[in-house]
Amino acid sequence: MAYQALYRRWRPMTFEQVLGQTAAVKALRNQIEVGRIAHAYLFCGCRGTGKTTLAKLMSRAVNCLNPNHGDPCGQCDVCRAIMNESTMDVVEMDAASHSRVEEMRELLDQVPYPPQMGRYKVYIIDEVHMLSTSAFNALLKTLEEPPEHIVFILATTEPHKLPATILSRVQRYDFGRIPSNLMVERMRLALDEMSFTAEEEALQMVARAAEGAMRDAFSILDMCVAGAEGGAITAAQVRDVLGTSDKDFLFTYAELLAAYDAGGVMRKVDELMRSGREPQVFLREMSAHMRALLTVKAVDKDAASILDVTDEDEKRYRQQAEQFSSARLLRILDDFVKAEGELRFASTPRIGLESASLRACQQNAGESSEALMERIGELEAQLSQLQSKLDSGAYTVAAPAEGSAAKAGKAAVKAGSAASAASDDATPAAEPAAKPIPNDAKLVWKEFLSILSKNEPPLLGLLRNERFLGEENDTYRVQIARAKKDFSYVKLNQPARKEKLNEYLSQAAGKPVKLEVVLEGEAVNTAQNDAREANEQMLFQTFGRENVQIDEGKA
Ligand SMILES: Nc1ncnc2c1ncn2[C@@H]1O[C@H](COP(=O)(O)OP(=O)(O)O)[C@@H](O)[C@H]1O
Ligand SMILES: [Mg+2]
Ligand SMILES: [Zn+2]
Repeated sequence: MAYQALYRRWRPMTFEQVLGQTAAVKALRNQIEVGRIAHAYLFCGCRGTGKTTLAKLMSRAVNCLNPNHGDPCGQCDVCRAIMNESTMDVVEMDAASHSRVEEMRELLDQVPYPPQMGRYKVYIIDEVHMLSTSAFNALLKTLEEPPEHIVFILATTEPHKLPATILSRVQRYDFGRIPSNLMVERMRLALDEMSFTAEEEALQMVARAAEGAMRDAFSILDMCVAGAEGGAITAAQVRDVLGTSDKDFLFTYAELLAAYDAGGVMRKVDELMRSGREPQVFLREMSAHMRALLTVKAVDKDAASILDVTDEDEKRYRQQAEQFSSARLLRILDDFVKAEGELRFASTPRIGLESASLRACQQNAGESSEALMERIGELEAQLSQLQSKLDSGAYTVAAPAEGSAAKAGKAAVKAGSAASAASDDATPAAEPAAKPIPNDAKLVWKEFLSILSKNEPPLLGLLRNERFLGEENDTYRVQIARAKKDFSYVKLNQPARKEKLNEYLSQAAGKPVKLEVVLEGEAVNTAQNDAREANEQMLFQTFGRENVQIDEGKA
């Protein structure tokens, strides 16, 4: 037997088999059971979500001789006649190709005559928004006074294009995207029937790509089935069919963006093109990746459920997100989304992808406050990374004796004068204006964090990546990133926790002291200044005073 496209083979024949669309299914089924049929329905929603399917189902259900709980039996003469299209009682018209008023009139001319076999004549008009104005008017006349035996089912992807006069005369149902778990289940059924197997990840990918349209999911699956070896569908194969790249590639590419590594990014694009991937598909995936990074930045935990990813993936996203400021992520995301749209019309999509990639690698050099905020945000992200590396001891500054450049991440750190680069302990004498955090305070803070790590890891988690602002009158100040306002900041300020923190901090200081938790942006002015000075100080100590230039006008 010839291969039948999956979407045809799996067109639901009963209400039960329809995925999602619960509101429409419930209401329609109920109307049929109680015998109260409306004269005009409107099914709205994206393509491939079941509009035509339900319209056909309805046309049989209202006419079936032996309906079962509202479902058509599929066996009686009427059901059969409708299914093999041998009756004039059900008329389907595609308004996209029959939009003229003459065609509408021809259709409506038949309306007064009663049905041949069943109880109702059903007119299914697809893409109804395409009708011409005069065709709409003709239809409207019939809708105003429909004969008893007539049912209109109008379907459209663009209900906003319908005249209000039509909208007010129909019973409207909106068809939503079908949840991916339901699509995966249905695909499994279809594959089982053909004795095919598939990796879970593979079907998840198909469902994701189909974006809620079951028809699309089936078309992609058709291609996979055609190319599957030994009756098994793998994630790698789906990737090939979709022209998508795998997660690791996306992470690596983002890593290069984080490092502003334009050369590396261009090499990746080249690799992508050589393996025959679609630039547009890649940009879409990269946008999704950027969105994931933004999401984990905005949501302190359980982002996995929002993103529909595993906890493991969430962890990976979190690690990567630390390298970006939210402002930069947003800018890149905006740019990628725009570029993806433009690529549709580009004659050489590769160039579009390359220029978007290069733009993403550039510092935002603008003078707008957004650009400034972005640069500050980037600096903050880098500093907090630096801070945690310093705190953890995973990172040390090269001793001056070696005299050579020490590599730290992307920045080549030159060991400068003995005073600035010797070690943490060296307070640069050359900079009287800046008010560095004294080493005593820093040592206390370090000790404090290490006490937490031994006794209260969750508290350490709340504080580890936050900025220590310094000490004044036995009060130690720490600044919580704005994004964590509703989480870390609130938690740290709960009285019971505060008391505990004060205890540990005092233990570290060797005398009674207090912890003050301030929120980024709301810190008292001096705290901000202190913070900036502290940041500068960190830069000086890390990279060497003479290698850092603070541009007062911009920072
Ligand atoms: N809600 C759904 N439940 C199950 N299968 C569906 C659903 N929507 C679409 N499909 C599948 O996609 C095919 C095409 O759907 P169709 O009803 O023509 O979509 P639409 O008219 O909304 O574009 C169907 O034959 C069926 O295989
Ligand atoms: Mg349709
Ligand atoms: Zn029947």
